Amino acid sequence: MKLTEEVRKQLRITVDYTNMTDKYLGLKGISLRDLKAYSGLIRNAHVYVSTNRGRDDLYMGWTELPYNQGEVVADILATAKAIRKKFDYFVVLGIGGSALGPIMAFNALCHLHYNDLPKTKRKGPKFYVEDNVDPVRMKELLDVIDIKKTCFNVISKSGATSETMTQYLIIADLLEKAGENVKDHVVFTTDASRGNLVKISKELGGVKSFVLGDGVGGRFSELSPVGLFPAAVLGIDIKLLLKGAAYMDKLCRTPDLRKNPALITAALQYVAYRNGMNIGVMMPYSDNLRYVADWYAQLWAESLGKNVTLSGGNCNVGQTPVKALGVTDQHSQVQLYTEGPFDKVVTFLSVGSYKEKSPIPHGCENIPDVAFLGGHTMEELIQAENKATAYALTKARRMNYTVHIPEINEFTLGQLLYYFELQTAYAGAMFNIDTYNQPGVEAGKKATFALLGKPGYEGQRAELDKAAPDENYIV
Ligand code: PA5
Repeated sequence: MKLTEEVRKQLRITVDYTNMTDKYLGLKGISLRDLKAYSGLIRNAHVYVSTNRGRDDLYMGWTELPYNQGEVVADILATAKAIRKKFDYFVVLGIGGSALGPIMAFNALCHLHYNDLPKTKRKGPKFYVEDNVDPVRMKELLDVIDIKKTCFNVISKSGATSETMTQYLIIADLLEKAGENVKDHVVFTTDASRGNLVKISKELGGVKSFVLGDGVGGRFSELSPVGLFPAAVLGIDIKLLLKGAAYMDKLCRTPDLRKNPALITAALQYVAYRNGMNIGVMMPYSDNLRYVADWYAQLWAESLGKNVTLSGGNCNVGQTPVKALGVTDQHSQVQLYTEGPFDKVVTFLSVGSYKEKSPIPHGCENIPDVAFLGGHTMEELIQAENKATAYALTKARRMNYTVHIPEINEFTLGQLLYYFELQTAYAGAMFNIDTYNQPGVEAGKKATFALLGKPGYEGQRAELDKAAPDENYIV
């Protein structure tokens, strides 16, 4: 794709927040006065993100990923090429921020039935992301891959995540039993110097590894080797992905609220939350974008769900993300969104031009309920349903806004990811919380260590053993 200024403009993602405003929702909407009341806070959020961008000590290294990975990208592309030649299967082992990005990019940019296509119609090996320790899932993955022809990309910043390391132990054992050299079948994506994968790499005699920089946390890592390497193996144009991110970054440099898409939606979400909208629904009208909602749910929930402010005060904030799919969930959840409590903001992801149109043939001419569909396309139908749902919600005075994606490709996906990352960074600054930590996740991780007998967790194990189920509450 030749990225002329004209093409960039045509592919620019825009945000339509008409249906958030009091002009269209009456008293249920947000007025200019509401926004003005928070103007200092919004301005400060923009200043905070602009002045601290790139700072590893604040975990804001992610802002520079579109610009500082020239050599890494070359290495990723060369390694991916070799992997595509050598292996029939590529399996990502990772969880949370080390898995949701690769799942999302795979689903967005590859054929929806990629693994079922014949080899000649795929750009890379069959692709799986294993982000759970369900024993059935592990066993059944092993039923469909040939371990001797598989490359495992173990992604873990810490190398201490029980789920990922369990999976690693299983595949390393199987590879050894199959007479294979583990080192030849794994690629690590991990911290530069700390972490267990660094030690394992040394023990194995130097595993091909990519570095997840110090200042990039898991959920902000899709544009780092965490996401770029699996994407490159799939034949996705990762340079274009980064160009898309850089383009969105440029659009969002301005402090002008009405011109900065990430800042305006962060501000609207913030004001909406303060007005009782505790739930944020993301509803992509595209199967390709379905997992953007999953990726975003982690980004938004883990970044904003906090109980302490940067000044040390108690807060308990965060909007609960809900994942929905248009049009599928019109037939399940939209009833609640339209008539239930006034506690939600719905974000639609709308596509301007789908890569397939799928004309609907004429037929059933004697049945008007069906015949009217003939002559249209499925693209027209899905777009009409998207528009109709936004209209119905607005009529019911429910807050909703639309992120318009002209078409789905690497350039627009890069924009979309960077847009949501920036929106989250701005919102975190508005809440005055640490957007980049996750102490609530750590608590569960530690309790698991204790239950499985990890040395150093004996005290917590004793406490957990005492917390036996109370029979008074079991029926
Ligand atoms: O966003 C995050 O930081 C988490 O979701 C982590 O990515 C997840 O817990 C996995 O951690 P690690 O990469 O250390 O295995």
